[in-house]
Amino acid sequence: MNSTKEKIAKILIENKNNFISGEFISSELGISRASIWKHINSLKNEGFNIQSKNKLGYKLSLDKKKSISAYEISYNLNTSIVGNTVVYFESIDSTNTYAKKIARNSKEGTIVVAEEQTEGRGRSGKSWVSKKGDGVYFSIILKPEIPITRASFLTQVAGAAMILALSKLGIDVGIKWPNDIILNGKKICGILTEMEAEIERISHIIIGIGTNLYSKEFDKDISHKATSLQNEGYEVNKVDFIHAFCEEFENLYIKFLSNDTSSIIDILKEKSVLIGREIYIIDRNDKRKVVAHDIDNLGNLIVKNEHGNLETIFSGEISIRGLDSYI
Ligand code: BTN
Repeated sequence: MNSTKEKIAKILIENKNNFISGEFISSELGISRASIWKHINSLKNEGFNIQSKNKLGYKLSLDKKKSISAYEISYNLNTSIVGNTVVYFESIDSTNTYAKKIARNSKEGTIVVAEEQTEGRGRSGKSWVSKKGDGVYFSIILKPEIPITRASFLTQVAGAAMILALSKLGIDVGIKWPNDIILNGKKICGILTEMEAEIERISHIIIGIGTNLYSKEFDKDISHKATSLQNEGYEVNKVDFIHAFCEEFENLYIKFLSNDTSSIIDILKEKSVLIGREIYIIDRNDKRKVVAHDIDNLGNLIVKNEHGNLETIFSGEISIRGLDSYI
């Protein structure tokens, strides 16, 4: 943090929820009150929730549901790759779409974060409802030097990281292969991985994460299968949540790059909500009943088919359903 505005942001973050006088900021940074006022207004326009009071000075309120800013995300983020650059929007069409646009000229680890998406995208061409105040939506730009065949496993690396991050925040969740994070039988988070590649070389991969933190109600078509952390009794601060995820994801990503995936697979197996259950595999018009048996070392789902034979299911456009419910 080098500019004067960033230094003011740092002081406010360090003293969050307390008033800090203009006099203090002025003597710390050697700038005039007028200059402080100008920078405070600019920070407010960037989404900082700053209260100004005569005689008391300025207070940054970190309400868990209010807008955040790139500074708050960068500040105290304990990673070296993931989140090294934070691009923040109050509202955008889709963080994945934007990340794709800037990927070529961005550093690996750049994250694009938004409070709201007007055209949020989910898997299989579905939309992802992303209302302001309901959650947080972000995408990570990655540039791994790996064979294209390993790329789809990154969705599950993100899934395992989400399990660990939420566990750090005291929330025990499961995973519905390959990419739905489940709390009390309903989905709270989805992951959309998109890749751009030349013949044999990955140019970049975008991992998009949408999490329902505070949503109270869901559209009719998804209300039977979607929930939010708040609906299930968990109050989570957005910044803490993003930090926990980025930190866990970076650890697992580094392991993944060095082909050390056994601990990731262990998490996916242990927290799978499918293994041992009868499920339907839906591939376009084909719907088959199988038993989810295991997850193999490459992250594929192993099922036992109607003839008692083991079959490998690769992710892709396949959907999985429980026999009479979502899982
Ligand atoms: C799914 O379960 O279908 C995946 C949902 C992924 C949603 C996230 S929100 C952030 C990023 N931007 C998007 O448009 N989609 C992903």
